[in-house]
Amino acid sequence: MGKLDDKVAIVTGAGRGIGRVIALDYAKEGARVVVASRTPATVEAVVGTIESAGGTALGLTVDVGERDQIDDMVARTVGHFGQLDILVNNAQGFGTKAAPAGSPGFVALEDFPEDTWDHTFQTGLKASLFAMQAAFPHLRERGGKIINFGSGNGIGAMKGTAAYNATKEAIRSLTRTAAAEWGKYDICVNVIVPTMVTDSAEAFFEARPGIREKLAQQIPLRRFGDVGRDIGPVAVFLASNDSDFITGQAIHVDGGQILRP
Ligand SMILES: NC(=O)c1ccc[n+]([C@@H]2O[C@H](COP(=O)([O-])OP(=O)(O)OC[C@H]3O[C@@H](n4cnc5c(N)ncnc54)[C@H](OP(=O)(O)O)[C@@H]3O)[C@@H](O)[C@H]2O)c1
Repeated sequence: MGKLDDKVAIVTGAGRGIGRVIALDYAKEGARVVVASRTPATVEAVVGTIESAGGTALGLTVDVGERDQIDDMVARTVGHFGQLDILVNNAQGFGTKAAPAGSPGFVALEDFPEDTWDHTFQTGLKASLFAMQAAFPHLRERGGKIINFGSGNGIGAMKGTAAYNATKEAIRSLTRTAAAEWGKYDICVNVIVPTMVTDSAEAFFEARPGIREKLAQQIPLRRFGDVGRDIGPVAVFLASNDSDFITGQAIHVDGGQILRP
């Protein structure tokens, strides 16, 4: 018996990094998983990995910066599997719509460009909201779980990444509001605040020399998260019945970095 048997989950940004691991772990726990991400090749690869291990997945190439694609993602999920139980809003775009980047660049607040601001919010806060709105009619029928993503950058006011900080803090507020409004439908809404070594984290470290060492020193457990080991079990817990009485919370999977000793 898996912890997510009979459940259907959408994971955005599931092509690589944290989203990929969550998609694989959900499938291992028995969920039928919609692997939704921007690059067709990575979507296909993750679907292939799930299916070779005996799981069930549907791959959808989705740009979460486009609302019609989000609506289509939810409609195709329900059309294919007949239900939706879990929504993981993991994808987050950086850079601009015309020139997407692999991580948030560093720009002084006084110079912050509007197009970067807009793209960060479109693919972060607004994408999370639009996916939640599209999922709501289906989750309301059976109860469900929504997992959003915040960032220590927002909480700790990382200098130079204003748009990313603001969209991630807005997502935390959106999460609490949704938890308050949708609790009566048995929909739990929580946010994960991770510190994991992934492609975007590596790009972030590369863009600002010395930041890796500085951040590492803030982590009481004295290491960055290992994406293969540290994130999946928490994401499974928040999607499973084991967390049925937890909502509106920010779960820090960050080795205690939030404490900033
Ligand atoms: N890693 C950390 O320590 C950390 C810390 C704080 C918060 N987070 C948050 O955790 C989440 C996952 O982070 P990560 O480190 O795993 O990121 P990542 O390695 O950059 O992976 C992001 C995934 O999202 C996809 N994606 C990006 N823009 C998209 C769009 N517009 N539409 C659909 N998919 C899109 C990417 O697809 P492509 O492969 O096609 O680009 C990729 O598969 C993000 O919300 C991030 O802000 C991470």
